[in-house]
Amino acid sequence: MYIVQIASECAPVIKAGGLGDVVYGLSRELETQGHCVELILPMYDCMRYDHVWGMHDAYRDLWVPWSGGTIHCSVFCGWVHGRLCFFIQPHSDDNFFNRGYYYGGKDDAMRFAFFSKAALEFILKSNKRPNIIHCHDWQTGLIPPMLFEMYKWYGMENQRICYTIHNFKHQGVAGAEVLWATGLHKDEYYYHPDRLRDNNHDAINFMKGGIVYSNFVNTVSPHHAWEARFSEVGCGLGPTLDAHQNKFSGILNGIADDVWNPEIDRYIPTQYAIDNFEGKAQNKKALRERLLLRDVDKPLIAFIGRLDAQKGVHLVHHAIYHALNRGAQFVLLGSATEPGINTWFWHEKQFLNDNPDVHLELGFNEELSHLIYAGADIIVVPSNYEPCGLTQMIGLTYGTVPVVRGVGGLVNTVFDWDYDPERSPEERNGFVFYQTDSSAVESALNRALDLYYENPKLFRQLALQGMKQDFSWKNSVEKYVEVYDYVRHR
Ligand code: ADP
Ligand code: GLC
Repeated sequence: MYIVQIASECAPVIKAGGLGDVVYGLSRELETQGHCVELILPMYDCMRYDHVWGMHDAYRDLWVPWSGGTIHCSVFCGWVHGRLCFFIQPHSDDNFFNRGYYYGGKDDAMRFAFFSKAALEFILKSNKRPNIIHCHDWQTGLIPPMLFEMYKWYGMENQRICYTIHNFKHQGVAGAEVLWATGLHKDEYYYHPDRLRDNNHDAINFMKGGIVYSNFVNTVSPHHAWEARFSEVGCGLGPTLDAHQNKFSGILNGIADDVWNPEIDRYIPTQYAIDNFEGKAQNKKALRERLLLRDVDKPLIAFIGRLDAQKGVHLVHHAIYHALNRGAQFVLLGSATEPGINTWFWHEKQFLNDNPDVHLELGFNEELSHLIYAGADIIVVPSNYEPCGLTQMIGLTYGTVPVVRGVGGLVNTVFDWDYDPERSPEERNGFVFYQTDSSAVESALNRALDLYYENPKLFRQLALQGMKQDFSWKNSVEKYVEVYDYVRHR
């Protein structure tokens, strides 16, 4: 099959979080299974150009109809660790992607609506006719409506679109002027509750457009698919998912085994595996050295993630102090976009500065994240909601025991050591809590630490059980291929 992925991220060249990992890992495994995959991405000035090989301009003059005029774009082409990527660069005065950031502009809705339009225009003009166009998250939600309402007249009526929702919190809710700019300006038709009008605001909703118009829609774990329909984590889109339930499902993410693999990871000083688990201790030592933590015989707990309300930052904060009270060490690697949370954690960092058992690293650091996964004993993921979550799966792969809140994809990947009636003792791999108060995370951490202190042999067995489980993309890609086949023949 010939598949074009359109997204706002692809690791490692453009990565703000799990979306980048998924777009990379999914594409790579599809290719391994014999499919032809190309990616279309924005050309941000701040992307990691050092990860693109053979970059050249593939299409110099792409004129994209926009806001009643046209915007001139170039399309660059290069390989990201073997994946063929096309990068769209507009030449307008306010170049949407020369901003020094991926997200966070007041005009993000316009920026990504433009990217979506330019991606379609590129497919049309370069005569690409993929079997499947696979779009990701709100940034590309207007592609399905534009394709089926505008571009089908240009011989693209047989294209099929799959749309994957990674996070319902960000839906692309914007004013009708965005629609006008794309050319979808039959207002009362598109601005209708059955199509693009937001369910709760007088505005358009990109993600809703993606759901209504795509041939198939999924989110990134089976449990979150259920939550999105039946609880508040659908952020107002539950009724839309209900109306389209026949084409909606949850497919669990995987992790790329060429990137997240302690046997070959080049960012860690000592590679290790199940039958060579001792190597993990060397990485713990190296991590302590690098972060100037005391070199003592203590358990090391980590958190890696965006510092966002989604990630349960209050519980993360509580976990730091609880870990210290229980004689453990704590390492946090977190990137905050929300100013209040950022300031809060900078203050904490200063406050804890002289404590040799804790390190808070604020910012994004891919290389350090690998060393933390390899060096820590326990990873805590106390999310408020979590569509899938990759950090627990990476932790498991690195023999780092997860302590998680039982929501979303965490339910589908972490099985409680002490109590899980549906899993055999050999399948259990971590500790799960459910409530959102601090005593809940505290008692789950206590269970993990008690096992570590009182029965190191069993703790090691638990870590090894996690490492044995397969979180690679292989199984999930088979599910995506089934979906692609299904929509192609309808
Ligand atoms: P989300 O996509 O909601 O941010 P995921 O758990 O799906 O959460 O994926 C997060 C990805 O981003 C993982 O690969 C994780 O290692 C990485 N990551 C998150 N924050 C940081 C950071 N501050 N520095 C480096 N990597 C990070
Ligand atoms: C989102 C979700 C996260 C998921 C990731 C990749 O950002 O927050 O749970 O793992 O996308 O699908």
